[in-house]
Amino acid sequence: MVKVNPHYERLKRPIIFPIIEQKLKEFQGDDLINLGVGDVSMPLAFDIAQAMSAAMVEMSQEPIGYGPAEGYLFLRNALLNEYRHYGISTDEIFISDGINTDLANIADLFDPSCKVATIDPGYPVFGDSSLLAGKEVLCLPCLEENNFIPQPPSQSVDIVYLCSPGNPTGVAMTEQDLEKWISYAHKTGAIILFDAAYAGFITSSDVPQSIYEIDGAKSVAIEMRSFSKSAGFTGLRCSYSVIPQETGLTKLWKKRQNTKYNGCSYPIQRGAVQALQSEQASAQITAYLECASALKEALGQNAYGGVNSPYLWWKVPEGMSSWDFFDLLLQEHHILGIPGVGFGSCGEGFVRLSALTTMDKVKEVTNRLGAYAH
Ligand SMILES: Cc1ncc(COP(=O)(O)O)c(C=O)c1O
Repeated sequence: MVKVNPHYERLKRPIIFPIIEQKLKEFQGDDLINLGVGDVSMPLAFDIAQAMSAAMVEMSQEPIGYGPAEGYLFLRNALLNEYRHYGISTDEIFISDGINTDLANIADLFDPSCKVATIDPGYPVFGDSSLLAGKEVLCLPCLEENNFIPQPPSQSVDIVYLCSPGNPTGVAMTEQDLEKWISYAHKTGAIILFDAAYAGFITSSDVPQSIYEIDGAKSVAIEMRSFSKSAGFTGLRCSYSVIPQETGLTKLWKKRQNTKYNGCSYPIQRGAVQALQSEQASAQITAYLECASALKEALGQNAYGGVNSPYLWWKVPEGMSSWDFFDLLLQEHHILGIPGVGFGSCGEGFVRLSALTTMDKVKEVTNRLGAYAH
């Protein structure tokens, strides 16, 4: 009998997306508005597509084979524009095919005995990949009473997963919120894995663009960003992790990547460089944020997030569970959200709505949901 990883047994929470897919198959109606999965709804910016096409043509004229596991210098140097002023250098930036991959793979660098703390509700890979790696996992509740901002625990942990602007809550951490965590990490020796997948959506001046704006962050924090939502790369796959030398993990990650990873493809990385300067891509973020703002206004005071993020975290009516309200939205109003409990038990009582949509859809949602706004 094959000996499988016994830790798969520790993943108790049902994976919601197949359940939602099944419910969608059973759904009768042709006017569904999908504010569910949170995929982008606008096409790839044309200048990015052109840069990728040019790279493909280049490959048809000269052989371009395996690239460096840590990413091409042309992209890492371009990213330096965003990080140079924090004292980050090119060899601390690593390109990957998605944050999801790096969030899970980073577990390779740590001793299995490391204790992990992760936000609840949170992006599922934080906790689940830690459970699969056999680690003990402590939940950091993000609730209405703490404005959905995780607070440092009284006990010490070795690894902390944070996400800002947050998915699913759509709430972003301010400078003061992050300072508390940097100070906690210095006191306890913890390393912070900072998922900044939605950094491109930050507009508030009190929300840092990068965790390295906080003094002392470079020795205790790894930052990960993605082109997925900020430039429509969900189907293309490109992201990066910043691992400063001061963390003591840079060389280890380089070794890990060179052992187990063969790099993100050349045309995608050429497209990513273009994405950093694409006016069409930044106009799309603005349009998504306008949708978030209009949706937030329509839903009223029980809708959180949606300012520095494309997500709305909407409190369900009194007496209903997040699955009840999900079903009601789908069956009665033909609107697909995601039940908050799918992101962790602290997400019970909420649904997540994605504003990665268009304004005409938001207007239609507003018409259909007017009765719930207060
Ligand atoms: C918080 C968060 N982290 C990571 C990811 C995955 O990003 P990528 O597409 O780069 O793997 C997502 C995607 O939705 C996300 O919401």
